[in-house]
Amino acid sequence: MHVYIEDIGKHDGEEVILKGWLYNKRSSGKIRFLLVRDGTGIVQSVIAQDEVNDEIFDAADRITQESSLVLEGTVRKDERAPGGYEIVAKDLQILQTAQDFPITPKEHSIEYLQPLRHLWLRSKKQNAIMRVRHELIKACRDFFDNQGFINTDTPILTPASVEGTTTLFPVDYYGDTVYLAQSGQLYNEATIGALGKVYCFGPTFRAEKSKTRRHLTEFWMLEPEVAFLDLNGVMDLAEDMTVFIVERILKKRKTELETLERDIKKLEKIKKPFPRITYKEAVTIIQKKHKDFKDGDDFGAPHETAISENYEKPVFVHHYPVGIKAFYMKRDPDDDSLSLSVDMIGPEGIGELIGGGQREDDYDILLKRIRENKLSEDAYKWYLDLRKYGTCPHSGFGLGIERAIAWVCGIKHVRETIPFPRMLEKVYP
Ligand code: 4AD
Ligand code: MG
Repeated sequence: MHVYIEDIGKHDGEEVILKGWLYNKRSSGKIRFLLVRDGTGIVQSVIAQDEVNDEIFDAADRITQESSLVLEGTVRKDERAPGGYEIVAKDLQILQTAQDFPITPKEHSIEYLQPLRHLWLRSKKQNAIMRVRHELIKACRDFFDNQGFINTDTPILTPASVEGTTTLFPVDYYGDTVYLAQSGQLYNEATIGALGKVYCFGPTFRAEKSKTRRHLTEFWMLEPEVAFLDLNGVMDLAEDMTVFIVERILKKRKTELETLERDIKKLEKIKKPFPRITYKEAVTIIQKKHKDFKDGDDFGAPHETAISENYEKPVFVHHYPVGIKAFYMKRDPDDDSLSLSVDMIGPEGIGELIGGGQREDDYDILLKRIRENKLSEDAYKWYLDLRKYGTCPHSGFGLGIERAIAWVCGIKHVRETIPFPRMLEKVYP
Protein backbone atom coordinates (compact mmCIF):
# COMPACT_ATOMS: atom_id res chain seq x y z
CA MET A 1 0.00 0.00 0.00
CA HIS A 2 1.26 3.49 -0.88
CA VAL A 3 1.70 5.55 2.29
CA TYR A 4 2.99 9.05 2.91
CA ILE A 5 6.04 9.43 5.12
CA GLU A 6 4.20 11.56 7.69
CA ASP A 7 1.93 8.54 8.30
CA ILE A 8 4.46 5.71 8.50
CA GLY A 9 4.25 5.62 12.32
CA LYS A 10 0.76 4.15 11.83
CA HIS A 11 2.21 1.25 9.83
CA ASP A 12 4.87 -0.16 12.16
CA GLY A 13 5.76 -3.71 11.07
CA GLU A 14 3.77 -3.47 7.83
CA GLU A 15 4.91 -3.60 4.24
CA VAL A 16 4.50 -0.25 2.53
CA ILE A 17 5.26 1.50 -0.75
CA LEU A 18 6.86 4.96 -0.76
CA LYS A 19 6.86 7.26 -3.77
CA GLY A 20 9.23 10.18 -3.75
CA TRP A 21 12.72 11.44 -4.39
CA LEU A 22 16.19 10.68 -3.10
CA TYR A 23 17.20 13.35 -0.59
CA ASN A 24 20.60 11.99 0.34
CA LYS A 25 22.47 8.72 0.56
CA ARG A 26 25.32 7.05 2.40
CA SER A 27 27.02 3.68 2.35
CA SER A 28 28.50 1.47 4.99
CA GLY A 29 30.01 -1.83 3.83
CA LYS A 30 27.26 -3.96 2.35
CA ILE A 31 24.49 -1.57 3.37
CA ARG A 32 23.08 1.50 1.60
CA PHE A 33 21.13 4.10 3.54
CA LEU A 34 18.78 6.11 1.35
CA LEU A 35 17.10 9.21 2.70
CA VAL A 36 13.80 9.37 0.86
CA ARG A 37 11.50 12.41 0.85
CA ASP A 38 7.96 12.67 -0.47
CA GLY A 39 6.95 16.20 0.52
CA THR A 40 5.42 15.10 3.82
CA GLY A 41 8.69 14.09 5.46
CA ILE A 42 12.00 12.33 5.13
CA VAL A 43 12.64 8.72 6.11
CA GLN A 44 15.71 6.56 6.05
CA SER A 45 15.55 3.32 4.19
CA VAL A 46 18.06 0.54 4.56
CA ILE A 47 19.06 -1.72 1.69
CA ALA A 48 21.29 -4.65 2.62
CA GLN A 49 23.20 -6.49 -0.11
CA ASP A 50 22.45 -9.87 1.41
CA GLU A 51 18.70 -9.31 1.45
CA VAL A 52 17.93 -8.01 -2.06
CA ASN A 53 18.91 -9.21 -5.54
CA ASP A 54 21.85 -7.66 -7.38
CA GLU A 55 19.67 -5.52 -9.60
CA ILE A 56 18.05 -3.76 -6.65
CA PHE A 57 21.31 -3.31 -4.80
CA ASP A 58 22.84 -1.90 -7.97
CA ALA A 59 19.96 0.61 -8.23
CA ALA A 60 20.67 1.69 -4.65
CA ASP A 61 24.29 2.24 -5.66
CA ARG A 62 23.46 4.16 -8.81
CA ILE A 63 20.64 6.36 -7.58
CA THR A 64 21.49 10.06 -7.46
CA GLN A 65 20.16 13.00 -5.43
CA GLU A 66 16.61 14.01 -6.47
CA SER A 67 16.02 10.98 -8.69
CA SER A 68 12.36 9.96 -8.52
CA LEU A 69 11.73 6.53 -7.08
CA VAL A 70 9.29 3.93 -5.83
CA LEU A 71 10.47 1.93 -2.83
CA GLU A 72 8.90 -1.05 -1.13
CA GLY A 73 9.77 -2.29 2.32
CA THR A 74 8.81 -2.92 5.92
CA VAL A 75 8.39 -0.16 8.50
CA ARG A 76 10.55 -0.70 11.56
CA LYS A 77 10.61 1.33 14.73
CA ASP A 78 14.14 2.51 15.45
CA GLU A 79 14.93 5.11 18.09
CA ARG A 80 18.20 6.02 16.36
CA ALA A 81 16.62 6.70 12.96
CA PRO A 82 15.66 10.31 12.19
CA GLY A 83 11.90 10.48 12.79
CA GLY A 84 11.91 7.28 14.88
CA TYR A 85 11.16 4.85 12.02
CA GLU A 86 13.04 3.40 9.10
CA ILE A 87 12.16 1.25 6.11
CA VAL A 88 13.86 -2.07 5.53
CA ALA A 89 13.73 -2.06 1.74
CA LYS A 90 13.08 -5.07 -0.45
CA ASP A 91 12.50 -3.32 -3.77
CA LEU A 92 13.65 -0.09 -5.36
CA GLN A 93 12.66 1.29 -8.75
CA ILE A 94 14.27 4.42 -10.16
CA LEU A 95 11.69 6.31 -12.25
CA GLN A 96 14.13 8.90 -13.54
CA THR A 97 17.78 9.47 -12.77
CA ALA A 98 18.46 13.11 -11.92
CA GLN A 99 21.86 14.30 -13.14
CA ASP A 100 23.86 16.83 -11.13
CA PHE A 101 21.10 18.39 -9.03
CA PRO A 102 22.42 21.93 -8.52
CA ILE A 103 21.57 22.22 -4.81
CA THR A 104 23.69 19.92 -2.68
CA PRO A 105 23.20 19.55 1.07
CA LYS A 106 26.07 22.02 1.66
CA GLU A 107 25.40 25.76 2.17
CA HIS A 108 24.78 27.91 -0.88
CA SER A 109 24.59 31.68 -1.19
CA ILE A 110 21.24 33.41 -1.60
CA GLU A 111 22.36 34.78 -4.99
CA TYR A 112 22.90 31.22 -6.14
CA LEU A 113 19.65 29.89 -4.70
CA GLN A 114 17.19 32.58 -5.83
CA PRO A 115 17.18 31.75 -9.55
CA LEU A 116 16.85 28.08 -8.53
CA ARG A 117 13.74 28.74 -6.42
CA HIS A 118 11.78 26.04 -8.32
CA LEU A 119 14.27 23.46 -7.00
CA TRP A 120 15.27 25.21 -3.77
CA LEU A 121 11.70 24.66 -2.48
CA ARG A 122 12.57 20.95 -2.14
CA SER A 123 15.07 21.56 0.64
CA LYS A 124 14.21 20.78 4.24
CA LYS A 125 14.00 24.31 5.52
CA GLN A 126 11.96 25.64 2.61
CA ASN A 127 9.62 22.67 2.92
CA ALA A 128 9.10 23.54 6.60
CA ILE A 129 8.38 27.21 5.81
CA MET A 130 5.77 26.29 3.18
CA ARG A 131 4.08 23.95 5.64
CA VAL A 132 3.94 26.72 8.24
CA ARG A 133 2.58 29.09 5.58
CA HIS A 134 -0.23 26.68 4.81
CA GLU A 135 -1.11 26.31 8.49
CA LEU A 136 -0.96 30.04 9.18
CA ILE A 137 -3.34 30.82 6.33
CA LYS A 138 -5.69 28.08 7.49
CA ALA A 139 -5.54 29.42 11.05
CA CYS A 140 -6.46 32.92 9.86
CA ARG A 141 -9.42 31.58 7.95
CA ASP A 142 -10.52 29.36 10.83
CA PHE A 143 -10.31 32.25 13.28
CA PHE A 144 -12.69 34.41 11.24
CA ASP A 145 -14.90 31.55 10.08
CA ASN A 146 -15.40 30.45 13.71
CA GLN A 147 -16.73 33.92 14.48
CA GLY A 148 -19.21 34.04 11.63
CA PHE A 149 -17.26 36.30 9.27
CA ILE A 150 -18.10 35.88 5.59
CA ASN A 151 -15.23 35.54 3.14
CA THR A 152 -15.90 38.00 0.31
CA ASP A 153 -12.94 38.22 -2.02
CA THR A 154 -12.26 41.54 -3.66
CA PRO A 155 -11.13 42.36 -7.19
CA ILE A 156 -7.52 42.45 -8.32
CA LEU A 157 -8.10 44.78 -11.27
CA THR A 158 -9.21 48.06 -9.74
CA PRO A 159 -9.89 51.57 -11.01
CA ALA A 160 -8.52 53.42 -7.94
CA SER A 161 -5.73 53.43 -5.35
CA VAL A 162 -6.14 52.58 -1.67
CA GLU A 163 -2.69 53.07 -0.19
CA GLY A 164 -1.37 56.06 -2.11
CA THR A 165 -0.66 56.57 -5.78
CA THR A 166 3.10 56.02 -5.71
CA THR A 167 3.10 52.23 -5.57
CA LEU A 168 0.50 51.41 -8.23
CA PHE A 169 1.07 48.86 -10.97
CA PRO A 170 -0.88 50.05 -14.03
CA VAL A 171 -2.45 47.52 -16.36
CA ASP A 172 -3.90 48.23 -19.79
CA TYR A 173 -7.59 47.37 -19.68
CA TYR A 174 -8.97 47.55 -23.23
CA GLY A 175 -7.37 50.94 -23.71
CA ASP A 176 -8.08 52.25 -20.19
CA THR A 177 -5.65 52.14 -17.29
CA VAL A 178 -6.57 50.10 -14.24
CA TYR A 179 -4.34 49.06 -11.34
CA LEU A 180 -3.45 45.87 -9.55
CA ALA A 181 -5.10 45.98 -6.12
CA GLN A 182 -2.99 47.36 -3.25
CA SER A 183 -5.63 46.25 -0.74
CA GLY A 184 -9.19 44.94 -0.75
CA GLN A 185 -10.25 47.31 2.02
CA LEU A 186 -12.50 49.69 0.09
CA TYR A 187 -14.52 46.76 -1.25
CA ASN A 188 -14.68 45.22 2.21
CA GLU A 189 -16.28 48.46 3.35
CA ALA A 190 -18.98 47.80 0.76
CA THR A 191 -19.52 44.15 1.63
CA ILE A 192 -19.92 44.85 5.35
CA GLY A 193 -23.01 46.86 4.35
CA ALA A 194 -24.39 43.61 2.97
CA LEU A 195 -22.95 41.07 5.41
CA GLY A 196 -21.88 42.82 8.63
CA LYS A 197 -18.48 41.25 9.14
CA VAL A 198 -16.32 40.05 6.30
CA TYR A 199 -12.79 39.25 5.32
CA CYS A 200 -10.92 39.03 2.07
CA PHE A 201 -7.76 37.10 1.45
CA GLY A 202 -5.73 37.41 -1.68
CA PRO A 203 -2.68 38.72 -3.45
CA THR A 204 -2.03 42.45 -3.31
CA PHE A 205 0.48 44.46 -5.29
CA ARG A 206 2.73 47.39 -4.55
CA ALA A 207 5.32 48.81 -6.90
CA GLU A 208 7.79 49.21 -4.02
CA LYS A 209 10.84 51.06 -5.17
CA SER A 210 13.20 49.95 -2.43
CA LYS A 211 14.83 46.65 -1.65
CA THR A 212 14.23 45.68 1.96
CA ARG A 213 13.88 42.41 3.79
CA ARG A 214 10.16 43.03 4.43
CA HIS A 215 8.89 44.27 1.06
CA LEU A 216 7.59 42.21 -1.80
CA THR A 217 5.88 43.66 -4.87
CA GLU A 218 3.28 40.87 -4.73
CA PHE A 219 2.21 39.78 -1.28
CA TRP A 220 -0.83 38.19 0.33
CA MET A 221 -3.01 40.05 2.73
CA LEU A 222 -5.77 38.98 5.05
CA GLU A 223 -8.20 41.83 5.63
CA PRO A 224 -11.17 41.71 8.01
CA GLU A 225 -13.68 44.57 8.17
CA VAL A 226 -16.49 44.95 10.69
CA ALA A 227 -19.52 47.25 10.81
CA PHE A 228 -20.16 49.02 14.13
CA LEU A 229 -16.62 48.41 15.37
CA ASP A 230 -14.33 51.16 16.67
CA LEU A 231 -10.56 51.54 17.02
CA ASN A 232 -10.35 49.70 20.35
CA GLY A 233 -12.53 46.92 18.98
CA VAL A 234 -10.27 46.41 16.00
CA MET A 235 -7.23 46.17 18.30
CA ASP A 236 -9.05 43.49 20.31
CA LEU A 237 -9.78 41.60 17.09
CA ALA A 238 -6.17 41.78 15.86
CA GLU A 239 -4.92 40.66 19.26
CA ASP A 240 -7.27 37.67 19.44
CA MET A 241 -6.36 36.64 15.91
CA THR A 242 -2.62 36.87 16.52
CA VAL A 243 -2.81 34.76 19.68
CA PHE A 244 -4.96 32.20 17.85
CA ILE A 245 -2.52 31.90 14.95
CA VAL A 246 0.55 31.48 17.14
CA GLU A 247 -1.18 28.88 19.32
CA ARG A 248 -2.21 26.92 16.23
CA ILE A 249 1.29 26.87 14.77
CA LEU A 250 2.77 25.81 18.09
CA LYS A 251 0.27 23.00 18.29
CA LYS A 252 0.35 21.75 14.71
CA ARG A 253 3.77 22.67 13.30
CA LYS A 254 6.24 21.96 16.09
CA THR A 255 8.33 19.67 13.89
CA GLU A 256 8.63 22.39 11.25
CA LEU A 257 9.59 24.99 13.88
CA GLU A 258 12.27 22.59 15.12
CA THR A 259 13.61 22.15 11.58
CA LEU A 260 13.78 25.95 11.38
CA GLU A 261 15.53 26.08 14.78
CA ARG A 262 12.92 28.57 15.94
CA ASP A 263 13.16 29.62 19.58
CA ILE A 264 9.73 28.35 20.61
CA LYS A 265 9.87 30.01 24.04
CA LYS A 266 9.56 33.38 22.36
CA LEU A 267 6.33 32.29 20.66
CA GLU A 268 4.94 30.80 23.85
CA LYS A 269 4.98 34.29 25.36
CA ILE A 270 2.48 35.59 22.81
CA LYS A 271 -0.53 35.89 25.12
CA LYS A 272 -3.09 38.62 25.74
CA PRO A 273 -2.93 41.50 26.43
CA PHE A 274 -0.55 43.20 23.99
CA PRO A 275 0.71 46.64 24.96
CA ARG A 276 -1.09 49.58 23.34
CA ILE A 277 0.72 52.89 23.02
CA THR A 278 0.02 56.11 21.17
CA TYR A 279 2.17 57.40 18.32
CA LYS A 280 3.35 60.15 20.71
CA GLU A 281 4.51 57.57 23.28
CA ALA A 282 6.24 55.63 20.51
CA VAL A 283 8.09 58.78 19.45
CA THR A 284 9.46 59.19 23.00
CA ILE A 285 10.73 55.61 22.92
CA ILE A 286 12.32 56.06 19.50
CA GLN A 287 14.02 59.33 20.41
CA LYS A 288 15.92 57.65 23.25
CA LYS A 289 17.82 55.75 20.59
CA HIS A 290 17.45 57.91 17.49
CA LYS A 291 17.90 61.50 18.68
CA ASP A 292 17.26 62.94 15.21
CA PHE A 293 13.83 61.32 14.79
CA LYS A 294 11.22 64.05 14.39
CA ASP A 295 7.75 63.97 15.92
CA GLY A 296 5.36 63.68 12.97
CA ASP A 297 7.60 61.51 10.80
CA ASP A 298 6.65 58.03 9.68
CA PHE A 299 8.55 55.09 11.18
CA GLY A 300 11.24 53.33 9.24
CA ALA A 301 12.53 49.85 10.00
CA PRO A 302 15.11 50.99 12.66
CA HIS A 303 12.38 52.97 14.47
CA GLU A 304 10.02 50.02 14.56
CA THR A 305 12.85 47.91 15.90
CA ALA A 306 13.52 50.48 18.61
CA ILE A 307 9.86 50.20 19.69
CA SER A 308 9.70 46.41 19.58
CA GLU A 309 12.88 46.01 21.64
CA ASN A 310 10.93 47.11 24.70
CA TYR A 311 8.42 44.28 24.48
CA GLU A 312 8.30 40.52 24.15
CA LYS A 313 4.90 40.69 22.45
CA PRO A 314 3.51 42.55 19.48
CA VAL A 315 2.68 46.17 20.35
CA PHE A 316 -0.14 48.34 19.02
CA VAL A 317 0.76 51.89 18.08
CA HIS A 318 -2.34 54.02 17.52
CA HIS A 319 -3.33 57.63 16.79
CA TYR A 320 -0.75 58.43 14.11
CA PRO A 321 -0.68 61.99 12.73
CA VAL A 322 -3.06 62.30 9.77
CA GLY A 323 -0.26 63.36 7.43
CA ILE A 324 1.40 59.93 7.40
CA LYS A 325 -1.77 57.86 7.01
CA ALA A 326 -4.16 57.14 4.14
CA PHE A 327 -7.05 59.41 3.15
CA TYR A 328 -9.79 57.09 4.46
CA MET A 329 -8.69 57.18 8.14
CA LYS A 330 -11.21 58.72 10.53
CA ARG A 331 -9.85 61.59 12.58
CA ASP A 332 -9.79 61.68 16.34
CA PRO A 333 -12.86 63.69 17.42
CA ASP A 334 -10.74 65.24 20.22
CA ASP A 335 -7.75 66.15 18.06
CA ASP A 336 -8.15 66.75 14.35
CA SER A 337 -4.42 66.29 13.73
CA LEU A 338 -4.59 62.62 14.72
CA SER A 339 -6.12 59.64 12.93
CA LEU A 340 -7.91 56.64 14.43
CA SER A 341 -5.25 54.42 12.92
CA VAL A 342 -3.33 51.50 14.37
CA ASP A 343 -0.33 49.43 13.39
CA MET A 344 0.72 46.25 15.13
CA ILE A 345 4.51 46.04 15.35
CA GLY A 346 5.83 42.54 15.84
CA PRO A 347 8.53 41.53 18.31
CA GLU A 348 12.15 40.61 17.55
CA GLY A 349 12.55 43.49 15.09
CA ILE A 350 10.17 41.96 12.53
CA GLY A 351 8.45 45.33 12.00
CA GLU A 352 4.87 46.19 11.09
CA LEU A 353 2.69 43.09 10.76
CA ILE A 354 -0.72 44.75 10.71
CA GLY A 355 -2.05 48.10 9.53
CA GLY A 356 -5.61 49.26 10.06
CA GLY A 357 -7.98 51.51 11.92
CA GLN A 358 -11.38 53.13 12.00
CA ARG A 359 -12.64 54.51 8.68
CA GLU A 360 -14.07 57.93 7.88
CA ASP A 361 -17.83 57.38 7.82
CA ASP A 362 -19.08 60.92 7.11
CA TYR A 363 -19.89 61.75 3.49
CA ASP A 364 -18.81 65.39 3.50
CA ILE A 365 -15.56 64.82 5.36
CA LEU A 366 -14.62 61.88 3.15
CA LEU A 367 -15.32 63.92 0.01
CA LYS A 368 -13.09 66.66 1.41
CA ARG A 369 -10.27 64.14 2.03
CA ILE A 370 -10.59 62.75 -1.50
CA ARG A 371 -10.26 66.27 -2.89
CA GLU A 372 -7.37 67.16 -0.55
CA ASN A 373 -5.53 64.06 -1.71
CA LYS A 374 -6.20 64.98 -5.36
CA LEU A 375 -7.92 61.65 -6.01
CA SER A 376 -10.50 61.24 -8.75
CA GLU A 377 -14.00 61.82 -7.38
CA ASP A 378 -15.45 59.73 -10.17
CA ALA A 379 -13.37 56.70 -9.27
CA TYR A 380 -14.51 56.89 -5.63
CA LYS A 381 -18.17 57.71 -6.29
CA TRP A 382 -19.29 54.23 -5.26
CA TYR A 383 -17.12 54.43 -2.14
CA LEU A 384 -18.77 57.73 -1.19
CA ASP A 385 -22.19 56.10 -1.75
CA LEU A 386 -21.46 53.87 1.24
CA ARG A 387 -21.58 57.03 3.41
CA LYS A 388 -24.90 58.05 1.85
CA TYR A 389 -26.86 54.89 2.48
CA GLY A 390 -26.78 53.84 6.11
CA THR A 391 -23.29 54.86 7.09
CA CYS A 392 -21.98 53.54 10.40
CA PRO A 393 -18.74 53.48 12.40
CA HIS A 394 -16.59 50.67 11.04
CA SER A 395 -13.06 49.38 11.25
CA GLY A 396 -10.72 46.77 9.89
CA PHE A 397 -7.13 45.85 9.30
CA GLY A 398 -4.74 44.05 6.98
CA LEU A 399 -2.29 41.37 8.06
CA GLY A 400 0.69 40.87 5.76
CA ILE A 401 0.87 37.08 5.48
CA GLU A 402 4.54 36.91 4.47
CA ARG A 403 5.67 39.09 7.35
CA ALA A 404 3.60 37.01 9.76
CA ILE A 405 5.24 33.84 8.43
CA ALA A 406 8.71 35.37 8.68
CA TRP A 407 8.02 36.23 12.31
CA VAL A 408 6.59 32.85 13.30
CA CYS A 409 9.36 30.97 11.48
CA GLY A 410 12.05 33.28 12.83
CA ILE A 411 13.50 34.09 9.40
CA LYS A 412 14.82 37.49 8.49
CA HIS A 413 13.72 38.00 4.91
CA VAL A 414 10.21 37.67 3.48
CA ARG A 415 11.58 36.26 0.21
CA GLU A 416 11.63 32.76 1.74
CA THR A 417 8.03 32.89 2.99
CA ILE A 418 6.25 32.72 -0.38
CA PRO A 419 6.74 29.98 -2.99
CA PHE A 420 7.81 32.36 -5.78
CA PRO A 421 8.68 35.83 -4.46
CA ARG A 422 8.32 38.96 -6.57
CA MET A 423 10.66 41.79 -5.67
CA LEU A 424 12.06 44.86 -7.29
CA GLU A 425 13.65 43.58 -10.53
CA LYS A 426 13.12 39.94 -9.53
CA VAL A 427 10.40 38.03 -11.32
CA TYR A 428 12.23 34.82 -12.23
CA PRO A 429 11.40 31.99 -11.91
O1 4AD B 1 -0.43 48.92 6.28
P1 4AD B 1 -1.00 48.53 4.96
O2 4AD B 1 -0.56 49.29 3.76
O3 4AD B 1 -2.57 48.61 5.13
C1 4AD B 1 -3.50 48.44 4.16
O4 4AD B 1 -3.30 48.09 3.03
C2 4AD B 1 -4.90 48.59 4.65
N1 4AD B 1 -5.75 49.03 3.53
C3 4AD B 1 -5.36 47.27 5.22
C4 4AD B 1 -6.75 47.34 5.84
O5 4AD B 1 -6.96 48.09 6.76
N2 4AD B 1 -7.66 46.51 5.35
O6 4AD B 1 -0.70 46.99 4.69
C5 4AD B 1 -1.12 46.03 5.64
C6 4AD B 1 -0.02 45.05 5.93
C7 4AD B 1 1.24 45.68 6.53
O7 4AD B 1 1.11 45.86 7.91
C8 4AD B 1 2.30 44.66 6.17
O8 4AD B 1 2.27 43.56 7.06
C9 4AD B 1 1.82 44.16 4.82
O9 4AD B 1 0.44 44.45 4.73
N3 4AD B 1 2.54 44.81 3.72
C10 4AD B 1 3.50 44.21 2.99
N4 4AD B 1 4.03 42.98 3.06
C11 4AD B 1 5.00 42.65 2.16
N5 4AD B 1 5.43 43.49 1.21
C12 4AD B 1 4.92 44.73 1.09
N6 4AD B 1 5.34 45.52 0.12
C13 4AD B 1 3.90 45.14 2.02
N7 4AD B 1 3.19 46.27 2.19
C14 4AD B 1 2.37 46.04 3.23
MG1 MG C 1 1.02 50.20 6.99
